[in-house]
Amino acid sequence: MHILYILVLLISLTNAETISENRTKAFDPFTPLVKCEYLSWEFVECEPLVDHKGNETSQKQLGHGCLKFGGMHYEKVEKAKQKCRALDDIECYGNKTFLRHNVPCVKYSDQYFTTTLLYSILLGFLGMDRFCLGQTGTGVGKLLTLGGLGVWWVVDVVLLVTNHLTPEDGSNWNVHV
Ligand SMILES: *[C@@H]1O[C@H](CO)[C@@H](O)[C@H](O)[C@H]1NC(C)=O
Ligand SMILES: *[C@@H]1O[C@H](CO)[C@@H](O)[C@H](O)[C@H]1NC(C)=O
Ligand SMILES: *[C@@H]1O[C@H](CO)[C@@H](O)[C@H](O)[C@H]1NC(C)=O
Repeated sequence: MHILYILVLLISLTNAETISENRTKAFDPFTPLVKCEYLSWEFVECEPLVDHKGNETSQKQLGHGCLKFGGMHYEKVEKAKQKCRALDDIECYGNKTFLRHNVPCVKYSDQYFTTTLLYSILLGFLGMDRFCLGQTGTGVGKLLTLGGLGVWWVVDVVLLVTNHLTPEDGSNWNVHV
């Protein structure tokens, strides 16, 4: 029970930022369900951001996606809409397919790697690093076996450092933000 509690706490801490600032709007007195759009990232599946390669017409037509990726400073990075869908076993209120707003047009950054490595070292026995990479299946396996009784935990740290363990979607870690 405690482990689960810690896990939930960690997930909510790391995602506090992505949970909508407009929490009050998600509250509906007639349903206990949160609006699908306000679910945090663990409970939704998002299509990769479409790269329109500077074509505004095509961006307008599709209604989501980025004109360009990255930028020299975070403030200069384009914020775009991304098409997401609530996972099948998640109950939520409203349209399960929705556009997530204000998604920064970046690929994974150095910070993502650092965070994953920290998770791997400190919380590898909970599979947090695998969850971080989007590898939920192996993450749960690692959690249930407590990091393969320590062996898997160590192996994954080595795999990460040697760049043999990468994000599930096959993207690179380092595209400059
Ligand atoms: C929050 O919701 C209110 C009412 O719909 C809206 O006017 C406001 O712009 C929203 N704020 C943010 C930060 O989205
Ligand atoms: C931009 O996208 C539209 C719609 O997809 C397409 O018809 C047009 O040829 C594109 N323009 C350029 C310059 O690629
Ligand atoms: C939900 O949103 C999607 C995409 O915006 C749309 O195609 C679909 O018709 C909507 N479904 C309902 C039930 O409103």
